[in-house]
Amino acid sequence: TQAPVKVTVTGAAGQIGYALLFRIASGQLLGPDVPVRLSLLEIPQAVKAAEGTAMELDDCAFPLLQGIDISDDPNVAFDGTNVALLVGARPRTAGMERGDLLQANGGIFGPQGKAINDHAAGDVRVLVVGNPANTNALIARSNAPDVPAERFTAMTRLDHNRALSQLAAKLDVPVTSISKMTIWGNHSATQYPDLYNAEVNGKIAAEQVDEAWLRDTFIPTVAKRGAAIIEARGASSAASAANAAIDHVHDWVNGTPEGDWTSVALTSDGSYGVPEGLISSFPAVSRGGRWEIVQGLPVNAFSRERIDASVRELGEERDAVAGLGLI
Ligand code: NAI
Repeated sequence: TQAPVKVTVTGAAGQIGYALLFRIASGQLLGPDVPVRLSLLEIPQAVKAAEGTAMELDDCAFPLLQGIDISDDPNVAFDGTNVALLVGARPRTAGMERGDLLQANGGIFGPQGKAINDHAAGDVRVLVVGNPANTNALIARSNAPDVPAERFTAMTRLDHNRALSQLAAKLDVPVTSISKMTIWGNHSATQYPDLYNAEVNGKIAAEQVDEAWLRDTFIPTVAKRGAAIIEARGASSAASAANAAIDHVHDWVNGTPEGDWTSVALTSDGSYGVPEGLISSFPAVSRGGRWEIVQGLPVNAFSRERIDASVRELGEERDAVAGLGLI
């Protein structure tokens, strides 16, 4: 029998955690034949709630679930972990300055990066979901010098899926007729969903919509969808975020479909003029368990301006956390 894959979820008692854990345990993260062992990391005040979720996981009698560990110590929770889903983060509260937000998250993602560095399995893959996701991933990566940088990613798959869905609705086509969507840059309001490389039934998407819709409706709708969900639901996206995390790791481990790519925030190698070392969203394929940035795509002036603006914001966030001594 196959040894279980250890999956650590931080913020396990939170909203996304609740939508995520059951899908991991059912086999949707890694595949229907892969046994899993779950490790839940929470802050001490939320350990009891995590225990409640673990009781429910037990009550599902998932055939693939080989055990659940719960801890408030990152050194324990990441011990031997193969997949680390960093969901728990410090949200921005009223009146909080950006510096305070980055500082608070540095206090979470710095020690977690170090714990991953010191205790995780040699093949560890890290996905940061907790916001500000790209910069939290940068902090974690910087505190894990022994782990290859390519193992640290941040999530823009939810933005990617939102872009697919908005375009499909506009053109009244199934989402399956769309390929080659890209989210560029930061998982923030400056992100750039690119329709100049996306295809609908094999034809460039931007040529099938008018430019005003693309500029004034599509881009802002995708970029501000998170706020619209909060407005409507009274809580931030949880099931859709968990779904995107499942998609991201599933594709990383099992590969992206032939002839298509997805969007992943990963360490830049300087591609497309994105400064080396920033964790920025790119078009990416997964082959042999590794992400590769899709090269050679045309970037027109409209796209260039928007990618640059989002990358500039990432550079500012990097400078801010560097100034705070977090990286
Ligand atoms: P939530 O507030 O329901 O849950 C967060 C959980 O994290 C809480 O249970 C909290 O106790 C825990 N936590 C806090 N600090 C921790 C630490 N140091 N170690 C372990 N656990 C810790 O929040 P929700 O809705 O689950 O969202 C989680 C994060 O995901 C937020 O930062 C949110 O902004 C982000 N998010 C990211 C998306 C993306 O597309 N990248 C989409 C939606 C949400």
